[in-house]
Amino acid sequence: MVFNTFLVGAIIILNEGFTQAGPTGIITLPECNRNGRFCTYRNGTIFVCESKGLQCCWNQKRSTHQIITFTRGHYECCPETGTNYNMHTHICLNGQILKKSRDSESACAFTQRYDTNTEKCCLKNEKYGQVHFKNPSGICCNEKYLTDPQLDCCQGVIYNVTKQACCKSGDGDYTLHNNSNACCLNVPYNSAVQYCGDHGVQEKDQTEIRQCNGTPYDPTWHMCCGDTLADTRTHLCHWITGRLVLKPSYGIHHDKVCRTRHTLVSYYSGISDRSGERQVCIDGVGLVMLAQDENICYEAPNYKYNTNIHLCCGKEKFYELGMRDGKQCCKNGVFAYNPSIETCCPNDQIIAVPEQYGRCCGMAGYDSRTHTCKDGEIVEDECAAMGKPFQLEDCTISDQQLLDFNQKFHRSGLYVYFATVHGPPTEKGRGKRKVRKWKLENVEQLKNKGKKMTLVPSKGKKFSVTAKKCQCPYELVTGERYIFWSEKKFKGRKGLILNAMQTGYIKSFDAVMPISKADYLSQFFDRLFGTE
Ligand SMILES: *[C@@H]1O[C@H](CO)[C@@H](O)[C@H](O)[C@H]1NC(C)=O
Ligand SMILES: *[C@@H]1O[C@H](CO)[C@@H](O)[C@H](O)[C@H]1NC(C)=O
Ligand SMILES: *[C@@H]1O[C@H](CO)[C@@H](O)[C@H](O)[C@H]1NC(C)=O
Repeated sequence: MVFNTFLVGAIIILNEGFTQAGPTGIITLPECNRNGRFCTYRNGTIFVCESKGLQCCWNQKRSTHQIITFTRGHYECCPETGTNYNMHTHICLNGQILKKSRDSESACAFTQRYDTNTEKCCLKNEKYGQVHFKNPSGICCNEKYLTDPQLDCCQGVIYNVTKQACCKSGDGDYTLHNNSNACCLNVPYNSAVQYCGDHGVQEKDQTEIRQCNGTPYDPTWHMCCGDTLADTRTHLCHWITGRLVLKPSYGIHHDKVCRTRHTLVSYYSGISDRSGERQVCIDGVGLVMLAQDENICYEAPNYKYNTNIHLCCGKEKFYELGMRDGKQCCKNGVFAYNPSIETCCPNDQIIAVPEQYGRCCGMAGYDSRTHTCKDGEIVEDECAAMGKPFQLEDCTISDQQLLDFNQKFHRSGLYVYFATVHGPPTEKGRGKRKVRKWKLENVEQLKNKGKKMTLVPSKGKKFSVTAKKCQCPYELVTGERYIFWSEKKFKGRKGLILNAMQTGYIKSFDAVMPISKADYLSQFFDRLFGTE
């Protein structure tokens, strides 16, 4: 209670946003730790100052601690002045609190002004530090600033990471070890010849050790560029020439090397977060900056083109407005073609057949509607030669045909047979009168006996089925069992003459369908026996 009363009466709130203890606010505490984090009540209870909105700062001149309150922002004690200051708006320089001239201004070790945007303050202790130019890969080691990626800091000691390892020791401190470059559960090891496995440090299999000009090296940090062993953190390799390029220590990390007309340059190959642009290398030419929808093309103006509008095949041949005109690049080629009217075969062979029908026979293209590829030769289909190219699509039964079939069935019925195709077909006749004839076996007829439907084997006669060549049915498969419908009866030697194909119609009311085509059969039955 005493303390609370004191607080209310003693603190002067300044306009600045931070508050400062007035003369009557000075109290002597039994203990106030140096950085002002802990405060002690008169009765000896210690608490975190900030938990009560307080700070405890040491005043050298008066040899007292001062309890200060603050309301917002980040405050710290300005050493030996007994006051704190808002680090966002002020700096503490040589015992004085000064307003910042710009946001990035700060004081290193409270004694030197520096700019946090471009400089780095490395502290040896609270009172001594050094200001350095900032480097994206820089780290402080006491007051020193290390920018060489080969150097690291081991509890204030600078060491070369390729020769020494800084590992935690039993007492929690860190120790430097010679002849090692990594730690495995605090045990130092040499990653060129050892690795960190499930059972600690293990020797590498001799075959896994990479060598560069006879020197073993660890590929996680090193590379063999040409004949030179180099550190991947400081160098980049131009693999084509096997020449090394030093990584720049400033700016965004470069990860690739490009050969220009006269020299090698390093660059960042990723996409820029800010602009979405990226750099691409044209070997022997140089770097080209590309927007998101751009790509490189040797023949395009300035080596780049818009991928939504133009087309470039093989990164080489440029087709102005190619994309807009619906063109595509030949696979593995440099020519462009229009797939709605053309087909491209290997080696950029373009033929005037829509891609839907175009096929390749080796490197030559052909129209699959009229030709086939046999043993690497393009041969014209017999049917095409007969004037009417056979097309499977023509053999599909239309709904109208099914409806006709259904009506026929309901009016006068149809003969239904099951039979297996035996052997390859024989062909007879010439030209347009050519026919194909298949032998049938295991012929059974679906019959209505009394009130039962039964399958009755048709015995004693040789059954066959005939179709005009190059019409449906075109192909019955030997060994496959089919269902046949016909308005005529199978008649022994003469057999059934089909004008339909294996899944279909039908000039008269003949049809044939493989019984393995279950989906199609069920649809067919549905329509056939339905009443609509
Ligand atoms: C010490 O004083 C503080 C503030 O008056 C009080 O909250 C705390 O309980 C006291 N502690 C003891 C042990 O008396
Ligand atoms: C670190 O050691 C390697 C190997 O001896 C040496 O080539 C390199 O120059 C050293 N780096 C520095 C920064 O001293
Ligand atoms: C490590 O090597 C350095 C010189 O390279 C040497 O001065 C030092 O004594 C070595 N330390 C140990 C523990 O062998």
